[in-house]
Parts: sequence; structure tokens; C-alpha cells
Amino acid sequence: MTDFKRTLITTALPYANGPIHIGHLAGVYVPADIYARYLRLKNEDVLMIGGSDEHGVPITLKAKNEGVTPQDIVDRYHNIIKESFQKFGISFDVYSRTSSKTHHETAAEFFKKLYDTGKFIEKTSEQYYDEENNQFLADRYIIGTCPKCGFEKAYGDQCESCGTSLSPTELINPTSMISGNQPVLKETKHWYLPLDQYETWLKEWILEGHKEWKPNVYGQVKSWIDSGLQPRAVTRDLNWGVPVPVEGVEGKVLYVWFDAPIGYISATKELTPKWETYWKDPETRMLHFIGKDNIVFHCIIFPTMLKAEGTFNLPENVPANEFLNLENDKISTSRNWAVWLHEYLEEFPGKEDVLKYVLTANAPETKDNDFTWKDFQTRNNNELVAILGNFVNRALVLTHKYFDGEVPAPGELTNYDKETLKSISAIKAEVEKSLDSFRIREALKNAMDLARLGNKYLADEEPWKVYKTDVERVKTILNICLQISANLTICLEPFLPFSMERLRGFLNFTKQDWNKLGWTNLIPEGHKLNKPELLFEKIEDSIIELQLKKLMDTKKANELAEAKAKPAKDSIEFDDFGKIDIRVGTVLEAEKVAKTKKLLKLKIDTGFDKRTVVSGIAEYYKPEDLIGKQVSILVNLEPKKLRGIESQGMILCAENADGSLSIVEPDKKVKSGSEIR
Ligand code: 2FM
Ligand code: ZN
Repeated sequence: MTDFKRTLITTALPYANGPIHIGHLAGVYVPADIYARYLRLKNEDVLMIGGSDEHGVPITLKAKNEGVTPQDIVDRYHNIIKESFQKFGISFDVYSRTSSKTHHETAAEFFKKLYDTGKFIEKTSEQYYDEENNQFLADRYIIGTCPKCGFEKAYGDQCESCGTSLSPTELINPTSMISGNQPVLKETKHWYLPLDQYETWLKEWILEGHKEWKPNVYGQVKSWIDSGLQPRAVTRDLNWGVPVPVEGVEGKVLYVWFDAPIGYISATKELTPKWETYWKDPETRMLHFIGKDNIVFHCIIFPTMLKAEGTFNLPENVPANEFLNLENDKISTSRNWAVWLHEYLEEFPGKEDVLKYVLTANAPETKDNDFTWKDFQTRNNNELVAILGNFVNRALVLTHKYFDGEVPAPGELTNYDKETLKSISAIKAEVEKSLDSFRIREALKNAMDLARLGNKYLADEEPWKVYKTDVERVKTILNICLQISANLTICLEPFLPFSMERLRGFLNFTKQDWNKLGWTNLIPEGHKLNKPELLFEKIEDSIIELQLKKLMDTKKANELAEAKAKPAKDSIEFDDFGKIDIRVGTVLEAEKVAKTKKLLKLKIDTGFDKRTVVSGIAEYYKPEDLIGKQVSILVNLEPKKLRGIESQGMILCAENADGSLSIVEPDKKVKSGSEIR
């Protein structure tokens, strides 16, 4: 590490208003975890900070919808999220939450210091107010028609249909989501952080001083600064959050994006009495791991807050990632388009590393990327199983077979042996270079080169053939393979911690520091190995198909939910309606019409006759389930031949938005022949 003595890694605090999904993992927590584990293996002083972001309007809205308190909501999701992280082995040194007492105190104190030292400006403005509920409405509490695209359910801060960011007064027909009434404009006072006053400093600090930041981060920051910064309100009229610590002020809280990043400080305080060393000593390097939607807050607003406060360090780097999509579609909580971690943990027990591997190998580091189940399967089967698992398994199994599980002594080394062993250090250097510049995806590829090296060496040397003629040579070959395996437990430890722990178990080998990576005598001759198991298992097509089906079902459910009813047809005279004769009939017989997919032939008791009707409902009803069922039948429809059968009438069905049919039946049994009017 360069000039720093220690590293403070912060990871974006997820909102505790829903469980977390692969997008969160890929964008923030997996790369941060890999980096933290890497530094720990190097015996560096590092802390990884996490926690739940428990304030903000969406949480209050969810609570309102469910008829529970915001605290109930955050308690529920904080626990789910925390457990998912723990099961995935995301190695936080602390995972806290912003509803904690320490956080409320820390955030209030931070605000107070800026307030007392005159760092804010106060402004009175007109904001929407719900007169029935006597409260100001946060932007998200107001919906109306988007002035840009006409979408009728745009929020006060953004139209989710066209993406335009809005202010509530731009909405046409604004409506309060609490009362459903039209809100009125009323004056309210708030405190603003004058970002405009920090523009010159921000330009110097980031645009001049941090040209090394990732292009996606630097570019976004530059475009924000170039388009001119405005004072930003840091308080809100709301009753969920950290109350504004100013005497006489009521019903106002700190804006969630003001208090959330202070959550990193509070969590560090909860973790260690030495928290100030991690936040204020210039020899500490602070890194924010975040997703791209958080860039402005971590690169402009939070640093400005820290600068205004005056005693804290600024971030040294902000390795933000882009977004991960799922099967070519944006991950969305509201549309349930996600792979949820708590579900994955249940459906793929013991495969936590596999998901982390795939998310890293395909990480959205420089551009948005797509997660597909097919790619998940391919990477598991062709990389983890076929390369890494296969190599270590063969090395271990052959050692058991030929040498009773004892590490054989190497003999004289060939040039190829020497080159192979030398490559380990070269791979180490490559992995370090990538990790040190936050190219985690490339680092994994480099680390897997060590498994590829071993696999190729074993395939080239073919000890199973050589054994027949030269046992001594086989000892050398397997010794080298076991040294590579032992090196793998170090090299891949940051990426695949659970699997490397198992591999160490097979090798009967303890965890080693990163600096030993490259050693060619990690496991001494005569060392006894344990019996190996398979390190990774193949994932069959049927498992992937199941996941794809689940997503298909979600897609269908969404289409149904989003489908709009057709507008009504033109008016008709009552006499026109009177011409239609619809009766309740009872199904007496039902059978499939041969060689058709959709048609059923039904015998119906209409009360006044028994007649045959052909109906296109075969995909939705089994013939045997229809016997005795009451249906609505249009009895005076001109008979029509279908597949050679005369259909005397029509069974009425409701056609769902997905085209599926549902028979319309009376909700109580009535006499066959009853008129439907
Ligand atoms: O985007 C989000 O999910 C926010 N809850 C991230 C907050 S990060 C930090 F500032 F706390
Ligand atoms: Zn719009």
C-alpha cells in the first residue's frame, strides 16, 4: 500500500425497505468484500463498514401501505438483509443501522456543528401541504401527471415512466398520496448546504486531484460540477428520521441522504473506541464502495459535508460500479424482477461462492452488464468445475491412489516444472496489480489463471500414464500439483472464501498470508492429506430451467398487472340487448375434439333441451372437471360447424389479459335454463 497506514472501506447502506438482490451484491458488497479480504490477507489494518439505511420516504410509504410502523418495516428488512450478508460471507467488521441511538446522536451532532458554525443557509419556500392530515408532503408523497410524457402516476421528484426528474410543482393535477386530495402550497423553512460555494474546491480536489478515479465516476462528477451546483436542502418535513436538532423546530428531520453517509461514522463508533483514527488520521485511506446511482452523494455531497465540518478525512477513491441487469431487463424490486439473495440461499445451499464467482466474473465495472442463468451455469460447469475443481480433485485423488495421501518428495525438476512454478509468482503480481487498481473482475480472471496453469500442467504431464514406467517422476509431478493447490488456497481466498476453506480442509493445510503466495514448498513432503470431496458440482439444465420458468412467471404476472382494460364499445339500444338469449346451462358430457389443441365438445342441459356446443377452452379445463359445472350459454346464436361438429350456441368466458379463458358461472347453483339478464 502506498503512503497509508490503514484503510477504511465503506459499503453503501442498503435501504431497509426490501430484501437485497444480486444487483446489490455485484455492484457493491462482493467487490468490497474481495478487496477487504485481500488487505486482511496482507495483514493490513482494514475495516469494512456496513449497515442498513433505515430512513427516507419509501420506508414510511411502505409502512403506511401495510398498516404498520416504519420501525416494523426496518426491523423486518434489516434482519433479512443482515442474515443474507452473513450467509454469503460478506465480511463486515460491523453491520449497523441508522435507527440506532449512536447514529441519531452522531448525525444530530454533525448537523449541529454545521449549523452552529454557519455552514448552512436557511430558506423559506412554498411546498405542498395536505390540509386534511396537517402535514407537508415529501416529494414522493405527491403523484400527478408528468408534464413531459403525460404519465398519470409520476412522483413529485421523478417520472418513472420517462425518467425525467421533476419538482412537485411541475406535476399536473398533483394529488396527496395520503388523503387523495389536492394539496395546497404553504410556506416552510429548511436548511440548505450551499454546494455552489464549494465548487472551486471540488474542482480542485476531484477534477484536478483525482484523475485516477474510474472514468465512469470521474465523468459523472465532472458533468455534475460543470452543469453548476445549487444549494441542496438537507432537512425535510417528515416525522421519520433524525429530528432536526434545533430548538423550537418540530416535524422536521434530516434529509435521508444527509444522515445515511454519517451512518458510516456511527457504525465505526459502535465498532471501536479508536474510530477517530479511522476517520481523522490523514494516514487512513477511505474508500467508498457504491453503485452508480450513489456517485453524486459520495463524491460531491458527503465530501462537502465532511469538508464543511472540517475534521474528517475525504475519500481517497470511490470505485463505483455500473448496474447489473437480469436476463436483459433492468432489475426492479417493484416488478419482482430480481434474484433475491434469501431465495438463492434456499434454492442453492452451499453455492454462495458460485454466485459470488459469477457476479465477479461478469461484474458491471465499466458498463452495465447482464446476469443470465445460462451464463451462471456455464461459468460454474466450465470454469469452477472443469478447471478449478477438476484440477485440485485430480491432484488429491492421484496422491491418495499412488502415495497413500502423503505429499511425495519432488525429484529433479525439468525446465517445464521450473517454468510452471515460476508462473505462480507472476500470477500473484498480476492479481495484485488488478486488485490494487480495483479491477476486481480482471483480478479474478488472473487468479483463475493459477488453476488453468495447474490444469494444463497436469494434462501435459499425464501422471496416470507416467506411473506405469516412472513412479519417481510422478512424485515430482504431484508434488508440484499440490504446491499449486496450496497456492490456490491463498490466491483465490478473497474471491471464494468458503471453497478455499474446504480446499484447505482437503489439503490439511492452515490459512496462510498473502505474502506466501508464490512459495513452491508450501506443503512439505510427507504431509498427510485428508480425503477430498468434490469442490464444485455440475449444475444441470433442469435447475436452470426452473429458474427461467420462475422469471417467466414473474414476467407474465407483471404483464397481467400492467395490462389496461379495453375501452367500452359504442352504446346500443336496449332492444339490441333484448335480442340476446343467454341461459345458465349444466354440463352433462365433455370430451376433447380429436386432433385439436383448443377444442372441447360439450353436451349441455339448457333446461329446455340438451344440445352440443364446441368451445375453445381445452387448454384451460380438463373435460372431467367440467361435468356438472354450470356455465353461461348464448342459446340463440346461429349454429356453426366446427371440425365437422355442429355447435349449437356459445359458452361465455372472461378473457384475461394474457389471453387465458375463464368460464363465467353463477355464484350459486340455479336451475338450468335460468335467463341471464
Ligand atoms: O441507494 C441506496 O440504497 C442508499 N440507501 C445508499 C446509502 S449509502 C450511504 F450514504 F449510506
Ligand atoms: Zn414522464
